[in-house]
Amino acid sequence: MLLEKMLQSQGFGSRKYCQQLIKNGAVQIQGEVIDNLKYKADLKDLEFSVHGENYAYREKVYIALNKPQGYECSHQATHHFSVFELFDELLLNRGLQCVGRLDQDTTGLLLLTDDGQFLQALTHPKKHVAKVYQMHTADPVTSEQAAQLAQGVELRNESGIFAATDVEILADHQLQMTVHQGVYHQVKRMLAAVGNKVEQLHRTQIGKLNLNDLSGLNEGEWMYLSLDQIELAKFREK
Ligand code: URA
Repeated sequence: MLLEKMLQSQGFGSRKYCQQLIKNGAVQIQGEVIDNLKYKADLKDLEFSVHGENYAYREKVYIALNKPQGYECSHQATHHFSVFELFDELLLNRGLQCVGRLDQDTTGLLLLTDDGQFLQALTHPKKHVAKVYQMHTADPVTSEQAAQLAQGVELRNESGIFAATDVEILADHQLQMTVHQGVYHQVKRMLAAVGNKVEQLHRTQIGKLNLNDLSGLNEGEWMYLSLDQIELAKFREK
């Protein structure tokens, strides 16, 4: 791929700006300055530097963020921070998007990508992958409430029944469950529908990708996912 196109695809800016970077001798491949605009880069395992900063070429990016409280999943956050403030400009220029949304006060596993197909695959209304949530509730969780959640509840202005699987009472005020759709405030509304209230919500897993397997990713930190981890996130029970 033409070097300027490659730089553009990685978020370095307009075609003109990338041409300028090349002409100014800011771009190196294997320690060699490439200032020839006709240079074609071999993308396989490509590493390069711009102004002395090293980069690896990535056709698409797949990111796991351990989302902290107080961050919204929108670009124009109004009352809180935006999760996009946690990423550098190169990633933002690539059109990074959240794969589904977490409320500003929800913590835990959030995926982001610039791959539209991956985003579709995970958030298609009829084919949502399973997501595991742990929550702290205002009132003690009763076994009746757990049973109702497993049987399914109706949510106002939504059609169909919303049932959780693997509903587990972890402690008096603590519940874990898996949901399979992704409507607005789903978990909070499901708990309200059975007469309780979510006070803290934390997502631990998407598909088969668990936050605990992401080598100590602390709150507010993010990492690129490997191909295997991407497959785990896409995992859907038949
Ligand atoms: N369900 C909710 O109610 N909130 C979230 O952030 C995610 C799922």
